[in-house]
Formats: sequence, C-alpha cells, structure tokens
Amino acid sequence: MNNDDLKRKIKKGIALFIRFIKNPAFVCDDFFQFEFEKKMGITTRGFVKESELGIPLDLNPYHYVPGGNVYLKKVLKRLRIKETDSIIDLGCGLGSPMLYMSKFPFKKISGVEFSKELYLGCKKNFEKLNYPHVSVLYGDAGDFNSFDEYNYIFMFNPFGLVTMKRVLENINQSYAQNPRIITLIYKNPLYGKEVLETEIFHKISEYKTESSFKFFVYRTNI
Ligand SMILES: C[S@@+](CC[C@H](N)C(=O)[O-])C[C@H]1O[C@@H](n2cnc3c(N)ncnc32)[C@H](O)[C@@H]1O
Repeated sequence: MNNDDLKRKIKKGIALFIRFIKNPAFVCDDFFQFEFEKKMGITTRGFVKESELGIPLDLNPYHYVPGGNVYLKKVLKRLRIKETDSIIDLGCGLGSPMLYMSKFPFKKISGVEFSKELYLGCKKNFEKLNYPHVSVLYGDAGDFNSFDEYNYIFMFNPFGLVTMKRVLENINQSYAQNPRIITLIYKNPLYGKEVLETEIFHKISEYKTESSFKFFVYRTNI
C-alpha cells in the first residue's frame, strides 16, 4: 500500500468514526445491512438522477436514493404490524424499504417502480432472496389501482404533484369502495397538505429520519 492509499484509508476511518459517534444506531444498522446485502449478492444502494430514471419527466419523478434504514424499522415497530397486514411501496427503487418491511410479519409486501433499470434490479434482488410474500411490479404508480389488496402504503418522496394527485385519487376510490383503516407512511412528506385534503386521512404521528425531513404517518377512519 502506498502513502496515498494509506492516507485515504485513514481519512475514511476517521469519517466513519465521526459518523458512528454522531449516530451509532444508524451506522451499526447500515453496516449490518451492507454485510447482509453483500452476503446475499444483492444491492439496494446507489443514486440515480431524475433524468436518468427513464421515467417521462412530465410525471415529475424524483431521483432514486434508498430509504430503508433503522428509522423505518422504528416506525414499523411502533405500528405493531400484524400477520393480516399488507403493504405497498410506491416507487420502490431497488427495494431497500421492502427489505426492512420483510423483518415484520406482513402477509404481503409489494413494490411498484417505473424505472425499468431499478425495477429489474429490485426484481433480481428479491429473486435471489426468494421471499414468497414479496412481489415487484413494473409501471407508473399513478396508474396503480389495486389498493384494495393493501392496508399499508409507503412512499419516500417518489414524485411531484402531478403523479401524487393521481395516486391519491386512486387511494380515495379504493377507500370509497372498501372503507377500512389504511395507514400511509410518508417519508419526506412534501405533499402532506394534499394528503390531508383528501379528507380521508388524518395525521397520527411523526418520526425523525436520518436527515432533516421526517416520516409522517396518516390513517383513515372506518
Ligand atoms: C426517493 S426514491 C425512493 C425509493 C424507495 N422507495 C426507497 O425508499 O428506497 C423514489 C423512487 O420513485 C420512483 N418513481 C418516480 N416516479 C414514479 C412513478 N410515477 N411510478 C413509479 N415509480 C416512480 C423513482 O424511480 C425512484 O426509484
């Protein structure tokens, strides 16, 4: 190892140590998750800019960044997930939150993704894991209209207002046809106002994340 390599390794070590001191739970969980993904030959990491997703830009897609981590685990723990619950991640990327969801007793876990590359990556990840209750769907979340099969919905700021309005309209319709308790977990809830304007959801709680934005949790009445 030459001097430059050594300096780079020391710098990396110091940066990791500082991150650990600031947030040990996050860093430890991230480390074990990384090791798990490596062992299973999968990956949910990475960053893809809006313009490289291959999603029509008039649908207002937001970039890909993985959203599953110890903070999501804490939210799910507080929600006391039951074996009769089913969840869908709208804009699931490579499936990072779905990996965390699979640590809970959900009957069914699904994700829908409109970036062909991310969809294929996510599908490959779960094929390797061979979890029978997990499925990945390809398509525009704004067209998704099988919400009746789910009582939990997850979103990590996947898209802007154009798509968000179509999604909320479809959730509304599902609720009108089949009134039930639906829980919406919305990370970085830029369109929280629009969620409340549906008049079917009320906010029940909020949780912190690894960043300055939060999780807002909404629920319907029956
Ligand atoms: C911030 S990332 C979150 C990914 C994943 N939910 C997570 O937390 O790791 C947003 C994702 O939404 C996807 N997306 C954007 N617009 C979409 C649409 N109309 N339909 C389906 N997926 C979409 C993007 O491709 C991207 O993977």
